[in-house]
Amino acid sequence: MPDQRILLRAEDTSVLIDLTAGRLPAIVHWGSELGELTAADAAGLAAATMPSPHANGTDQVSRLAVLPEHHTGWTGRPGLSGSRRGVGWSPKFTTTGLTISGERHEGPESVEGPAAGGVPLATYGVASVETAAVDELSQLGLTIRIELLSGGVVRMQATVINNGADDYQLDDLVLALPVPAQAREILDFAGRWGKERTPQRQPLGVGTHLREGRHGRTGADAATVLHLGTPGFGFADGEVWAVHTGWSGNHTHYAERVYTGEQVIGGGELLLPGELILKPEQSYTSPWIYAGHGIGLDAVARRFHRYLRSRPQHVDADRPVTLNVWEAVYFDHSLPKLIELAERAAEVGVERYVLDDGWFGGRRNDQAGLGDWTVSTDVWPNGLHPLVDKVKELGMQFGLWFEPEMINLDSEVARAHPEWVMATGDRLPVEARHQQVINLGIPECYAYVKDAISRLLDTYAIDYIKWDHNRDLIDAGTQPGGVPGVHDQTLATYRLIDELKAEHSGLEIESCSSGGARVDLGILQRTDRVWVSDCIDPLDRQQMSRWTTQLIPPELMGSHIASERSHTTGRRHDLSFRAATALWGHLGIEWDITGANDDQRAELKAWLDFFKAERGLLLRGDLVRIDHPDPALMGHGVVAADRSRALYSLAMVDRSEVNGIGLVRLPGLDPDRRYRVSPVIIGGWPQTRFLPSWWSADRPYVDLTGAALARVGIQPPDLPVEHAVILRVDPLD
Ligand code: DGJ
Repeated sequence: MPDQRILLRAEDTSVLIDLTAGRLPAIVHWGSELGELTAADAAGLAAATMPSPHANGTDQVSRLAVLPEHHTGWTGRPGLSGSRRGVGWSPKFTTTGLTISGERHEGPESVEGPAAGGVPLATYGVASVETAAVDELSQLGLTIRIELLSGGVVRMQATVINNGADDYQLDDLVLALPVPAQAREILDFAGRWGKERTPQRQPLGVGTHLREGRHGRTGADAATVLHLGTPGFGFADGEVWAVHTGWSGNHTHYAERVYTGEQVIGGGELLLPGELILKPEQSYTSPWIYAGHGIGLDAVARRFHRYLRSRPQHVDADRPVTLNVWEAVYFDHSLPKLIELAERAAEVGVERYVLDDGWFGGRRNDQAGLGDWTVSTDVWPNGLHPLVDKVKELGMQFGLWFEPEMINLDSEVARAHPEWVMATGDRLPVEARHQQVINLGIPECYAYVKDAISRLLDTYAIDYIKWDHNRDLIDAGTQPGGVPGVHDQTLATYRLIDELKAEHSGLEIESCSSGGARVDLGILQRTDRVWVSDCIDPLDRQQMSRWTTQLIPPELMGSHIASERSHTTGRRHDLSFRAATALWGHLGIEWDITGANDDQRAELKAWLDFFKAERGLLLRGDLVRIDHPDPALMGHGVVAADRSRALYSLAMVDRSEVNGIGLVRLPGLDPDRRYRVSPVIIGGWPQTRFLPSWWSADRPYVDLTGAALARVGIQPPDLPVEHAVILRVDPLD
């Protein structure tokens, strides 16, 4: 194939791809916008950035491809690992074909035009670049797709095909992007049940920072987004490169710095031993690896948000306020109680009512019934009709909980089909929440689960599924041989969701997994919301929402107002803090409001009214998170795309060591415009506190320019700990 370079440019991101000497595509530059380039500029940049030979290294050096190849002398993680029983384990691919689709830019020199060094340059905006390659010796074909998406997100995917006559065992496939030496600090996430997405930082040394997810689901402790940035990067500053593996099964994220000084970030699916043996002509396609670059974490997050919002299937900002009954009733399904809850919900303005776990088979607690997807006649003698009819009559949508990938051994389906339980090694996996995994990779089992769910969707007017997944996949093999089945299970789950959605137009699906253990862009290609965590304590949610938005925009985050006393932490919080925290996502209620008094219900209604009035901004604005030196204050906001308005939240999440924590800067507005900043008071101000000088009873506002707000800031009110204030910023001209 003739040599070629391709420049992709969109939304302040430039990607220069080198396709020379028949090698796999390599990235010359991924990062800040470089402006228009000629072929000569691109050739110069390629020459200037080419790795140098070094003492005791290989005599020839080559630029690292997005699928790093060992044969080039690369001693970091290879892009492809596998063999034919020990043969063909170090492929040397030759690129044979190139297809580009997207917005062509007539740059100073087009692909057909004269080119410096004989290498032409083609310039595109949002586009997809697909290369085909082969290696005759290992008898493999390889397709690599590199795309620049709306928002400036880059994504990559590879397909490997077995062109040989015997089996090829694929052990690992990762794709990686180069990151310059300036980036030496890692930020990614840890987490556990009830405390998902806790940030962790560390320096990148020589070696591999490897995050493996072996839960068979995304995992509460998933890396989620792995960033590499200039030391000390914050929400607004420091240069950051980030990667996310869009996959809901076993997966990796990694950052690697090798002895040559080269460094990459990447990821892929994590394959179990022998999980993928490609028969002749069979192929494997990797998950998409998403990447974003920006100055500060907000810029990176905004890329992901803009990309997700640009998709045709993305939810609109009119997200219906939801009530989920789980923490109100748990497994105690009494129709009068559930109807009273629906009535109270409608009164305060709820728009969607979701019946959680416990409505089917023998599911009276968490030890039985999973897999028996028929309405329990013991608890629901007339089916779900009386409740669904009531909910609809009250003008709300109806949602229903399922856990389609799971099975209790104490169920009709497990008794009839014990072979559908995922297992390996002639034993059953260790139980988790008293349950096992049902094998959707078995066609008959898949058909059974799909038919059961479809029947319910056809019988009742179900607008929404809360799709749960409450255990790790341990020893998850296919009986009787027990070959690993996580890859197939993940694909089967995706297919099941895709088919159910295709056959039931308008159906929305929430991805829940013991709370927030399935938050990734693989599941979010086909679902409409994630449940962030089973912990709804607003103090913890301040932190979890802050970091969940590093990948997904607020409208995809289920964010509920819980009862006064948190069921997870036992802490008590005023309604103002619970509501002011929950507002910044897809708002809901998870609280037995039949026990709430009139004042509480009136205040709740006022918060819901505020959300409804502002959801266009809350769920479509640009997210900004405030870098404040005092960790006792956590602040964030949303700014309208035209910079005309904004809302901010300032929350005290701890007691500061000083009385006055200092000025708080409100970033993101038009520096040249004048605005009025005023507090949003719902349900009264929490306690008698000192107010800042700019906020008096007869003048509860201050007028400032966007520049002053962002660069100087304002004195925050003297908030009690575990309280928040919402500030609205409206234009004066
Ligand atoms: C875990 C979820 O996160 C909860 O919200 C609830 O749906 C339970 N499962 C039900 O079993």
